[in-house]
Formats: sequence, structure tokens, C-alpha cells
Amino acid sequence: MTRFIYLSDTHWGAGESGYHLQPKYDERLPELLEALRSWMAQAGPIDFVLHGGDLIHATSDAAIQAGAALFDLPVPVYLCLGNHDLTAAGSLDQWERLAPQLFPGGPAGYGIDAADCAIHVIPNQHGETPFLWDETQDPHFLPEQTEALEERLAVRSNSTQLILTHSPVYAISPAQTGLSEPFHEPSALFTEVMSTLAQTHGVACVLGGHSHANMSKSVHSTQYVTVSSFVETPFEFKLFEVDGKTLSMQTHNLREAIDFPTVYDWDSTFVQGRAADRSFQKDLTQ
Ligand SMILES: [Fe+2]
Repeated sequence: MTRFIYLSDTHWGAGESGYHLQPKYDERLPELLEALRSWMAQAGPIDFVLHGGDLIHATSDAAIQAGAALFDLPVPVYLCLGNHDLTAAGSLDQWERLAPQLFPGGPAGYGIDAADCAIHVIPNQHGETPFLWDETQDPHFLPEQTEALEERLAVRSNSTQLILTHSPVYAISPAQTGLSEPFHEPSALFTEVMSTLAQTHGVACVLGGHSHANMSKSVHSTQYVTVSSFVETPFEFKLFEVDGKTLSMQTHNLREAIDFPTVYDWDSTFVQGRAADRSFQKDLTQ
């Protein structure tokens, strides 16, 4: 069985600024990761940790070095770069130079071949300049990224395959949020590109971050998942377990495991989601 943790949006260095849906404690990331280490030691063998992006809040050599040092965990950590990880021209080269261990195959996109699944990491673009987020939020991929992804997907067609990108492929529904409009709705084109790729290649699950809210939604036999921010109360993350027969996900949190005082906003419980937004089990034999 392959077991891995999925977490996202740690925004190291944000300070007072930054988008959040629940009270945020990014400055407590070292303690949160210490608590995660203990959780992993208790929860049995974990093969690796996947980070869905926005590991840091703004790009600089110092932030990348500090972020990579924090995520020096007892298991490999793999990162899909988010918009906040790419705030300066040349960010991609900076990551490659300073933290190559987070990207086996390079930060523009790579694959993880685990014992029971293959995970394809493809950081989405945000604006007109590749791998730079300045103003616009227009999630899309470069043709060469899509090409490389399709090649990897075709080669591993007999494996259980997952894709990780930063931006969500589907909005969070009003049924979950209680809001009048879909929350974090991507462009129709981004949804179409990813859902077509997933459907064509029988991808079991597509992971995202960015919204800072939990989502789990099945479309054409693919499970689409996002996770709330690891540094916002109650400090949630996902445990994925996959063997030849099933792929399952559970949401866990570290609120009881940390000893600094925290506040929870009970008016925003949609961030955590309903039971169905927090876990799934998928039969892989069908
Ligand atoms: Fe983001």
C-alpha cells in the first residue's frame, strides 16, 4: 500500500498580509510541522508528503531556503509550485537552484512513481509570462507542459494515476458554502482542459490547492480534491491510501496537537466541508 499526505498553502513569510478563510498562523509553521512529524510517527509508515503550492508567500532566495529547510521532513516532500511561489521573474530557476529535492524531474512538471500509483505534478500558469504571477489569475498550462503530462499519462496507463496542480479545476458549490455563487470558479477552459485529460487517461484523482477550502467531488469517475490551508485553524491535511483495489482519502487536523492558542471562525465552517467533502473511497477494480 502507498500512503501519502497531501497539504497546501503554507504561505511562509506572509506576516500580517494574505488571503485566508479561517484565522491563519503561518508564523507557527515550524511548530505545525513538528506536530505533523509526531502525527506521521504515530500513524504508521508514510511514504511521502505532497505540497499543493504556495509554500512561501513571496519569492526570494531567503524565503525558498527557509521554506525548504522547514520541509526537511523524515520522508520526501514534493512541491507543486503555486502563484505565491512564483512572484518574481526567474522564480523557477531559483527553486531549481535552491531546492531541487522538492522536484524530482524539475519544477516545471514531473512525475512520482510510487509503489501503487503514479502522481503527475503540473504547476499551472497564472498570467502571460510563464512561471510568473504578477497580477492576473488565469490558470492554464504551457503546451509543452501538457505534452509532457500526456506522454507520462500514456506510459502509465496500467497504473492508478493522480494529477496535482495548484489551481482548483472545479468551483466549490453553493450547497457547500451557503453562498449565492460558486466559490473560486476557474475559467471554463481550464476546467475543460483538465477534465478532458483526466477522462481520456482514466485519471483517478486530481488534486489542487489555492482556494484554502476542502472540496471532494466526483466528475466522470475522477475525484477532484482541494485541501484547506495547513496554517489556518484547524490545520488540516489529507491522508491518501492506495493499493491495487482502492484509493481512499481522509481529512485530519492538528488542532489538538499544538499548544499555542487558536481561534476558529464558526461562521466559516464551509471551509472544512461536509462529510462528503472531507473523505472518499474509490473502488479501482471497476
Ligand atoms: Fe494560490
